[in-house]
Amino acid sequence: MPNVPLHRHPAPPAPVVVLTAITILSLFSLSPVLGWRPWPNQKPNASELVFSGSKKFEGSSEFVKLKYHMGPVLTANITVHIIWYGTWQRAQKMIIREFINSISAAGSTRRQSTVSGWWKTVQLYTDQTGSNISRSVHLGEEKNDRFYSHGKSLTRLSIQSVIKSAVTAKTRPLPINPKSGLYLLLTSDDVYVQNFCQNVCGFHYFTFPSIVGYTLPYAWVGNSAKLCPGVCAYPFAVPDYIPGLKALKSPNGDVGVDGMVSVIGHEMAELATNPLVNAWYAGEDPVFPVEIADLCEGIYGTGGGGSYTGQMLNDADGATYNMMGIRRKFLVQWVWNHMLNYCTGPNALDQ
Ligand SMILES: *[C@@H]1O[C@H](CO)[C@@H](O)[C@H](O)[C@H]1NC(C)=O
Ligand SMILES: *[C@@H]1O[C@H](CO)[C@@H](O)[C@H](O)[C@H]1NC(C)=O
Ligand SMILES: *[C@@H]1O[C@H](CO)[C@@H](O)[C@H](O)[C@H]1NC(C)=O
Repeated sequence: MPNVPLHRHPAPPAPVVVLTAITILSLFSLSPVLGWRPWPNQKPNASELVFSGSKKFEGSSEFVKLKYHMGPVLTANITVHIIWYGTWQRAQKMIIREFINSISAAGSTRRQSTVSGWWKTVQLYTDQTGSNISRSVHLGEEKNDRFYSHGKSLTRLSIQSVIKSAVTAKTRPLPINPKSGLYLLLTSDDVYVQNFCQNVCGFHYFTFPSIVGYTLPYAWVGNSAKLCPGVCAYPFAVPDYIPGLKALKSPNGDVGVDGMVSVIGHEMAELATNPLVNAWYAGEDPVFPVEIADLCEGIYGTGGGGSYTGQMLNDADGATYNMMGIRRKFLVQWVWNHMLNYCTGPNALDQ
């Protein structure tokens, strides 16, 4: 544990995720599984920010009925194929690659909050045969789509066409790996994606054979730096309508990308446990699944929930984080632990 003060930062309230999900998802004809950022759009008033939330800790287990629906999960070694859509700087790519490389990094002997420790909660989930989610997550081939092959405004369907272009490219196509591949489409800060910023910062689903030729689990995450950092890069940016709430310093000096890291973590945890949207989720209706990261949206540490992000860590430069990667620090939301029946993370004070 680094010798730094713990940081507790108020967040706008995380409302009942299920209701938000149902309201918004019912507008879609396809039902991708979304990375929710529900709080800033709720426009809480100032007294709620100060007084509510502190009674809820690490999510409420009372209403959560997370169930396994017999579908496959990612039990084989996971290979992440990134599609860099639009304009990406080398330094930005490094931050995201290092986050993914940190997931399977060998555990440190010191008691330390690490990205690989965070993934251990995801590994607790199994399929019908009792096989756990793979511990091994590695970067595979990457594809650059520098010239915005499908324009600067993508729809849920055109996202699948971008993936098709990447797996059918004449030069260096991405490998086809439906069993253990995880396709991550990352869009630069000048690209709009359908419903981006309206509570949606990322989503995951699988490709349709009719469009792509294969059923491939994929996730999209956008860089919100120009469009809505107060929504998707919170708490490194804050919404304008909350006066007096100060943004926290991000650990890698890039608000948009540091914010993306938590959304990427959210989507990867859900893809691993619910790749075809028929495995681990809560809620009665499979069209509106609430998954292991949705349940812990906005929670980064002990005491999180309601209005609070929970206790985080500060480094010597004043940046806020909650886990160490191989060479960098990251702030990543917690995920649901179905054995304990609450959200957990590697920086939990009682673990
Ligand atoms: C703000 O929230 C508090 C607590 O929920 C409530 O009592 C108060 O009436 C609200 N104020 C406004 C202006 O909505
Ligand atoms: C899976 O990954 C582990 C460690 O990264 C490696 O030792 C093992 O050989 C891999 N298994 C397969 C089938 O590739
Ligand atoms: C696999 O999952 C089971 C059931 O959730 C759990 O008890 C066990 O600790 C997990 N194994 C690993 C290596 O995470």
